[in-house]
Amino acid sequence: MAADATSPFGQPTPRIDGVAKVTGAARYASDEPVAHPAYACLVTSAIARGRVRALHLERAKAVPGVLDILTHDNVGAQATPPPQLSGGGSTTTLETDQVWHDGQIIAVVVAETFEAAREAAHRVEADYVVEEPGATFGSPGVTTEPHHPAQSGEGDPKVGDAAAALARAEVRIDARYSTPTQHHNPIELFTTTCVWDGPKLTIYEPTQFMWGLKSAVAKQLKLDPADVRTVSRYVGGAFGSKGSVSSRTAWIAVAARRLGRPVKLAASRDQGFTIATYRAETRHHLQLAATRDGRLTALSHEGSEVTSRPSGYNVAGVDTTARMYACPNISTSVSVVHADRNTPGFMRAPAETPYMFALESAMDELAYALQMDPIELRRINDTRTDPVDGKPFSSRSLMQCFDQAAARFGWSRRDPRPGSMRDGDWLIGWGCATACYPSNIGPAACRVSLTPEGKAAVHLAAHEIGTGAYTTIALTAAHALGLKVEDVTVVLGDSDLPPVPVAGGSNNAASTVNATLKACEELRARLAAAAVQDRAGPFGGADPARLQLQGGALVWSGRREPLAKAVGRVTAGALEVHAENVPEGLPPDAMAKLYQGTPVLLRGGSRKDATAYAFGAHLVEVRVHRLTCEIRVGRVVSAFAAGTIVNPLTAYSQFMGGTIWGLSAALHEQTEIDLRTARYVNDNLADYSIPVNADVPDLQIIIVPEQDRTVNPAGIKGIGEIGIVGMNAAVANAVFHATGKRIRDLPIRPEKLL
Ligand code: MOS
Repeated sequence: MAADATSPFGQPTPRIDGVAKVTGAARYASDEPVAHPAYACLVTSAIARGRVRALHLERAKAVPGVLDILTHDNVGAQATPPPQLSGGGSTTTLETDQVWHDGQIIAVVVAETFEAAREAAHRVEADYVVEEPGATFGSPGVTTEPHHPAQSGEGDPKVGDAAAALARAEVRIDARYSTPTQHHNPIELFTTTCVWDGPKLTIYEPTQFMWGLKSAVAKQLKLDPADVRTVSRYVGGAFGSKGSVSSRTAWIAVAARRLGRPVKLAASRDQGFTIATYRAETRHHLQLAATRDGRLTALSHEGSEVTSRPSGYNVAGVDTTARMYACPNISTSVSVVHADRNTPGFMRAPAETPYMFALESAMDELAYALQMDPIELRRINDTRTDPVDGKPFSSRSLMQCFDQAAARFGWSRRDPRPGSMRDGDWLIGWGCATACYPSNIGPAACRVSLTPEGKAAVHLAAHEIGTGAYTTIALTAAHALGLKVEDVTVVLGDSDLPPVPVAGGSNNAASTVNATLKACEELRARLAAAAVQDRAGPFGGADPARLQLQGGALVWSGRREPLAKAVGRVTAGALEVHAENVPEGLPPDAMAKLYQGTPVLLRGGSRKDATAYAFGAHLVEVRVHRLTCEIRVGRVVSAFAAGTIVNPLTAYSQFMGGTIWGLSAALHEQTEIDLRTARYVNDNLADYSIPVNADVPDLQIIIVPEQDRTVNPAGIKGIGEIGIVGMNAAVANAVFHATGKRIRDLPIRPEKLL
């Protein structure tokens, strides 16, 4: 979209909510003041499989200040479990006596103070019927089945005859990879505050989906959705963990109703590992076939993922890996392994992070088998056409990303032989990988008002999860209404506002910016229509489509009318429009579904005739100590092309944060599981390893300009997730280049190199 010289759209802009955040004025959900609250503490199961035979509450009730204890015996029938993300059944909590996984909620203690609730929770004694749990792949008693195909109803991608092409391959790679369980650990804990006012329930809870939480809890408690309001003005980190509805919310609402008083819960860090979702461990069997000159002739990707006993949740990243490179024969499949675990869920680039690790590692292995530069291998197999369904990519700047990153990195100085580059006792390795993420967009509604004083307000139930949503939307309205950013007020995070989709799948900017632009355009059109009717005014008789809002005025052909007049002509108060945007390609009932809180996203672009992805390239230098095998990342250059960038400053943060997380996924992160008990061992921030500043080296991000007129009118592809994708493989590939050791199982820890 064209921006005039004075427009702030596309200009690096500090967050408009930055001061509020750093001064503590920003109100996170658990900061919301409520009158005379009671405090809840969860009791969670100490076994992973079995039943609760009895709960002994006497010692807990004896703690001074205890008000109530919810168990399956006294409230079990009052709520149903929240909806599942994909096929299959759901795990229960207080609904029954069944224990599906370690750390499952089995009781909720409510007391006058947090301390009393916690003390009493520790005194609840549970008698269990214990069964032997199966923790993960290969554990006793776990079951495996094919996954339920994608929402679209299309099966796993399949093209040509991959088996035959593999059989006659000139060069072939056949390898198995794995990625571990990981937990998001946003700094803001999983909190819920519930307040009843007669039949009306208000829920203060950090969420990535205001309207989804509202409708889900209404359904769980059999309430009229109109009686449920959710409020979440700021979210202190989400990464997918606050995208789906967890069990706790309905029980806190029940607790507040029983007590006739607001109830506040702040679950502990370790409880966050089991009452919310996580990134499941995955396994991959990758087979590639290529001609001697490097053209792919076959790709076979078989994935397998862990989920809970009843849930069919899976991420099925073969949908993306099958589309990355030109290839005439593609075969993919995904299976799920049901274990005695909590149900996994979204975590930054849920599908792409594990699946692209496998593909991009295998591509590196193929490059060595061909004795070819790994960037050249990707160039040879670059394509303008989606190899699965033959649609053109709406835009694809993958090689521009590689070329710009390579130039900055100095890639041409790379000696391809493993172990050939050294600095004293340190082995130097340079590796690369492709990043990508499907460009999602959903329906969104938005209310915009403008006063004769030139002040605008934008209202929508969007989500500030740290990405800079307030600022992005302010820049958009300022641009479209010809105002300064400081003249725009943005109000988000309340389900009383017009709905937008879940802040997931990197759709947020595309969905909300396009809806905001639509509302602003309707506002402009109303002002223009009135202006051209006014024969005494400067635009009498003009074509209303030509009138623009710029610099605090309505303008056309050198004429200029200040907003005081242009808006004052139609109102002395505020002119307000409500707009609903349904992107092309979504079914006509998409807006109705959004109002019902149903997830509606258009995956992979907005047009039937194109496949839309953002692309990027990671180039990494690692240093591996010859004797201790200590692994340090020395340098990273990552380049991304993701269409229109509304705010390059916050975009840089997203790319950088994602890239660092990819480094973390490669070298640091793993939720350790005790295989005998199916319990998480390092469920705290002391033992769960993540990178600190000293682990993050010279990190450079390049934003490659890209215009995509197909993906959506604003040309936005989304940037929240792409940064993490492929980075794990780039690090692993660099480790191979340094050491000659191919580590196919993440994370890469020194002991795997010894
Ligand atoms: Mo993102 S993992 O879809 O919140």
